[in-house]
Amino acid sequence: MIEQGDAKQNPKNPKRIIEGGETSDIKRTQEITLRPQNLNEYIGQKEVKKNLSIAIRAAKKRKEPLEHILLHGPPGLGKTTLAYIVSHEMNVNIKMTSGPVLEKQGDLASLLTNLKDDDILFIDEMHRLRPAVEEVLYTAMEDFGIDIIVGQGPSARSVRLSIPPFTLIGATTKVSLLSSPLRDRFGNVFKLNFYTNDDIFEIIKRTASILKIEIDDTAAHEIAKTARQTPRIANRLLRRIRDVAEVKNQNKITKEIARSGLASLGIDHLGLDQADRDILEFLITKFNGGPVGLNTISAATSEEQNTLEEVYEPYLLKIGLLERTPRGRIATPAAYDHLGHTQHQNELL
Ligand SMILES: Nc1ncnc2c1ncn2[C@@H]1O[C@H](COP(=O)(O)OP(=O)(O)O)[C@@H](O)[C@H]1O
Ligand SMILES: [Mg+2]
Repeated sequence: MIEQGDAKQNPKNPKRIIEGGETSDIKRTQEITLRPQNLNEYIGQKEVKKNLSIAIRAAKKRKEPLEHILLHGPPGLGKTTLAYIVSHEMNVNIKMTSGPVLEKQGDLASLLTNLKDDDILFIDEMHRLRPAVEEVLYTAMEDFGIDIIVGQGPSARSVRLSIPPFTLIGATTKVSLLSSPLRDRFGNVFKLNFYTNDDIFEIIKRTASILKIEIDDTAAHEIAKTARQTPRIANRLLRRIRDVAEVKNQNKITKEIARSGLASLGIDHLGLDQADRDILEFLITKFNGGPVGLNTISAATSEEQNTLEEVYEPYLLKIGLLERTPRGRIATPAAYDHLGHTQHQNELL
């Protein structure tokens, strides 16, 4: 089993509380125990859950594999978790891999030929699949077959090899980068949205009970407000704040401990960390608020363009501190306000 999980690795940046994915083994183990095992335990995303549960029940009734599923949305919203849940609910095996890991057509072909009937193949970071590898997927998804070339030179011919019926679950943070032939081959396409604060509150309470952390409701609300509407960040903040409580010899997370923990992590009331504020500060002080190209922001903040686009920007856009225009990124009046800058009249033009 190729267990690739969240393949994106972030350079260490001490200013950063948000990250693209989990990397170390310890984190991964915790991640697995925190992951809900079935749809009922999966909090929020009502629409997605409803449609998935219909698709699952229908497939079971017909005794057929599920149609292929594409999950898209910002990091940490529960795409990988949903893929595991689908495999539990369908009672089938799941094999995990990721776009950039599949270097050659043969890498994918060997995964496909080793599947058993009705297995799930999970491909993370679908938008990073190489075109040649993607082509193998087309016939696999459509006809459960792959074309291989036998022989060489003039006698070479293409032979169709059949593979077991399977379900592909693809995940991506950048659905706009998927080619339309690929997107069209998914029978189910689900977009994961940012969570409400109430959902995040529930997730924090659930994680606290799994990790046996005592926490006041007021403290859980306090953390929920700053978790960027993202379960992964909520869980991470909870673990770090538990450390703060431990250092203070407190066995319960109160609102005061939550607040002092968040402050010591440099997280403000909107959930921004120092790295977010640096991006906005740079736009405002160096470029009168923009527009500024992504490459310039990347050079100034030492963050990769991908990370900026996939990890930082979605939330800044969502809460209206940043705008994307064809000419570049712009800090909005709300960003000026948040950072305590006055916007001069000529910058508004
Ligand atoms: N709906 C949810 N309910 C409870 N926990 C969740 C939910 N979605 C995600 N999580 C938790 O958040 C973490 C990140 O989820 P993950 O599936 O890895 O996100 P993604 O694959 O979208 O980056 C996991 O530890 C998981 O336990
Ligand atoms: Mg994931």
